[in-house]
Amino acid sequence: MSDTVKTVGVLTSGGDAPGMNAAIRAVVRTALANGMQVKGIRRGFAGLLEEDIVDMDTLSVSDIIQLGGTILYTARCLEFKKAEYQKKGADICRKHGIDGIVVIGGDGSFQGASRLSENGINTIGVPGTIDLDIACTEYTVGFDTAVNTAMEAMDKLRDTSESHERCSIIEVMGRTAGHIALWTGIASGAEYILTVEEYDGNISKIIEKIQTRRKIGKKNHIIVNAEGVGNSNEMAKLIELATGIETRATILGHIQRGGNPTCKDRVYASAMGAKAVELLRDGASNRVVAYRDGEFVDYDIQEALAMEKGLTPYLSHISRKLTTIN
Ligand code: ADP
Ligand code: F6P
Repeated sequence: MSDTVKTVGVLTSGGDAPGMNAAIRAVVRTALANGMQVKGIRRGFAGLLEEDIVDMDTLSVSDIIQLGGTILYTARCLEFKKAEYQKKGADICRKHGIDGIVVIGGDGSFQGASRLSENGINTIGVPGTIDLDIACTEYTVGFDTAVNTAMEAMDKLRDTSESHERCSIIEVMGRTAGHIALWTGIASGAEYILTVEEYDGNISKIIEKIQTRRKIGKKNHIIVNAEGVGNSNEMAKLIELATGIETRATILGHIQRGGNPTCKDRVYASAMGAKAVELLRDGASNRVVAYRDGEFVDYDIQEALAMEKGLTPYLSHISRKLTTIN
């Protein structure tokens, strides 16, 4: 591995997240400010294996900080899980003079990053995922925008739900993690928040609560359901059948991944992108940038991946007090 990185490669991998462009911009501008060259690798590890690599200069990241998505495109590349392709990826880096890489993505992408590091390329991860499911960090690029998007959608759904005196189930993303559900549920004043971490699968308890609430005059009922819990349409049928209240399920889907990043996503993504390059400049490898206790810090990738993350206990606690399920 090189002590002094001369050329930084940057790629985005896994699901896109608003703020990834701000991170790319910070990587490029910080590298240039430190006298390094920068190459953009398009479409994640897939693009690396296909040598889809472009030179980047300061102008190539102009006017992108406000944009959702990723100008470098992203992909999932199953081949990269195999050792032979990881070695090939490192060889391609060397062929293009790339001696340091910043990988912006989630847990899976960090596994790939770690393999590149083992194959001799200095590698730093930046947590980019709307799911907030990376244990070592309290912030991931895109989460803030995603929860604001979902919250706005829920406000709109509440209007129509109230007018029709309906029950609405809103399914949010998050893979197997309930952070998006918990945050948007609290923010939108949902009556019920169902997360993989806490929901016991007992629909009859919810039905009972809806019936009680209807009797005391509650017109609409908002249930936020995490995608890991799933079955929103099935749940809607069961609730309607048992309560006689018209029930609709809305699956918010990929809309949560799009849109202009919030101020927080732009600023934190910029800090993380810049920090990743500073780590490369200082000779680090196999590290992931994180935000903890008000500071931008870094961890060994394998140590970071071994950490476990649950929902923030106090948020869970208050959500039980503020919703109908308690
Ligand atoms: P995320 O990075 O958001 O968690 P994925 O889990 O889909 O998304 O991973 C993104 C990409 O990272 C995969 O398509 C693959 O190219 C790479 N990757 C995932 N797991 C591994 C692994 N165990 N070893 C090497 N590369 C991996
Ligand atoms: O990891 C981000 C995420 O949006 C998850 O919340 C969701 O489960 C998944 O990606 C969806 O992936 P795809 O873009 O392949 O449909």
